[in-house]
Amino acid sequence: MDNLNVPLHVAVIMDGNGRWASNQGLPRLDGHRAGVKRIRLVLEKLASFGIKYVTIFAFSTENWSRPQTEVSGLMGMLREVIDLESQSLHKLGARIIHLGRRDRLDPDLLNAINKAQELTKHNNYITLCVAFDYGGKDEIVEAIKRIIIDGITPSEINETLFANYLYTKGIPDPDLIIRTGGEQRMSNFLLWQSAYSEFYSTNTFWPDLGPLDIEKAIAAYRNRGRRFGKVVP
Ligand code: IPE
Ligand code: IPE
Ligand code: MG
Repeated sequence: MDNLNVPLHVAVIMDGNGRWASNQGLPRLDGHRAGVKRIRLVLEKLASFGIKYVTIFAFSTENWSRPQTEVSGLMGMLREVIDLESQSLHKLGARIIHLGRRDRLDPDLLNAINKAQELTKHNNYITLCVAFDYGGKDEIVEAIKRIIIDGITPSEINETLFANYLYTKGIPDPDLIIRTGGEQRMSNFLLWQSAYSEFYSTNTFWPDLGPLDIEKAIAAYRNRGRRFGKVVP
C-alpha cells in the first residue's frame, strides 16, 4: 500500500473483551488481560502505515458503573501496563498522552501516568493517546467550566478556542474511528472530534483483532469519499 490517503489519526473503541472471555468460559478480567496484550501489536501495525496519531478508548466515564471487581481489575491493569510498556514505547519513539479526567484516579496511577507522559514527551514517531476515565460529554462540560474560569467572553469563543480547551488540545481530529465487537455506536467517545470521522465497525472482538483486520479497515477508509459538506465532482 502506498502512503496516499492514509489516515493521520486513527481512534479505536476497543470493545468485546468481556464477550471474548465468556465465549471461552473465562472470567471477564481474562478478556481484559488478553485485550491489553493486543494493544502493542495493533499500534505497531497502524504505525507501519505511517499513521501518526492513535487513540485508544480504554475506560469510559460510564465504565465506573461496572462491578467493583472489574473496575479495580482494570485500574490495576493500567497501572501494570504503564510500568511494563512505558520504556519500550519510549524506545519505539511513541509519545504517550492521557485523555480524560484525572481527579478520580488513584494518586499512584496518576503519578505513573505523569511519569510516562514526561518520559515520552519529545518523541515524534507516533503519538498514542490513551482515553481513560474519558467521556465526550464530560470533556465538553469541563471545557466550558474552564472557559468561564478563564474569563473568556462570548465574542472570543469560536471552534478553535473551544478545541483548545479539550483534552485533545493540539491533536488533529480522528480521520477514522474503528470499533471492534460489532456495535454501531460511539458510547460517548470523542463527540466533538468525530464530527467528520469515518466510522468502521468490525464484529471481531478486540482480543482477536489482527493485522489483517487493520488492513481491511484502512482499505475501507481509502475507499470512502470524504466531502466535509462540499459538493465533490
Ligand atoms: C471493552 O470490552 C473494554 C472496556 C470497556 C474496558 P468490554 O468489557 O466492554 O467487553 P464486552 O462489550 O462486554 O464484550
Ligand atoms: C466503550 O465500550 C468503552 C470502551 C471501549 C472503553 P462499552 O462496552 O463501555 O460501551 P457500551 O456500554 O456497549 O455502549
Ligand atoms: Mg463493551
